[in-house]
Amino acid sequence: MNMKRIAAEHAVQYIKDGMKVGLGTGSTAYWAIQKLGERVKEGLSIQTVATSKASEKLAIELGIPIIPFTKLDGLDVTIDGADEINTDLHLIKGGGGALLREKIVAYHSARLIIIADESKRVQTLGQFPLPIEVIPFAVDWTLKALEGLGCRAQLRTDDERLFITDNGNYIADCRFGSIALPLELHNKILGIPGIVDNGLFIGQADLAIIGHRDGSVEVLERK
Ligand code: A5P
Repeated sequence: MNMKRIAAEHAVQYIKDGMKVGLGTGSTAYWAIQKLGERVKEGLSIQTVATSKASEKLAIELGIPIIPFTKLDGLDVTIDGADEINTDLHLIKGGGGALLREKIVAYHSARLIIIADESKRVQTLGQFPLPIEVIPFAVDWTLKALEGLGCRAQLRTDDERLFITDNGNYIADCRFGSIALPLELHNKILGIPGIVDNGLFIGQADLAIIGHRDGSVEVLERK
């Protein structure tokens, strides 16, 4: 059973004719984009923006209309994945390195629908290393400041080279182990110069659609 796929396909049922849609990034969002591509071929009329170059490329290949941001005031809904989802629907995102664009697009969406397999649900965030987008300048100092917040920070690599985001920055993966107060941590991280943004998404998800091993789909709403 492909749990990511069933969650993604369920989410695409929320997309109606005429909507402006944000396209997420990652292996779960992949299935949502595939399904949207099918529906566009069947006549669904939507306008979309993508949260990464990879998702944009996929959408174009599938014939999904990508519209420049400047042509749209905002979005009706964004469908995106997550690395961890807690009971308040706070999230860790950025495993794919696209957290900054994902956060911008989510902010300008009336609704954010998160899609995931059941392994992403947690009681407390922080087991997954928190991705933080950092400016290359003086990055060693920035990492030291991050470690001062109680984590082990490591720059992400890709084939032995430093991973570079779509925005030309680095990602620091920060092992906190357990994040008891996500909003406080989020604000402390943003107080460090050199940080562009971090993968904590607090109070942004409206719905989480979870695919289970037995083929069922669970829909969780933010309280
Ligand atoms: C991309 O930067 C991420 O935020 C993804 O949405 C997240 O890592 C989930 O990815 P998967 O759907 O591949 O697990």
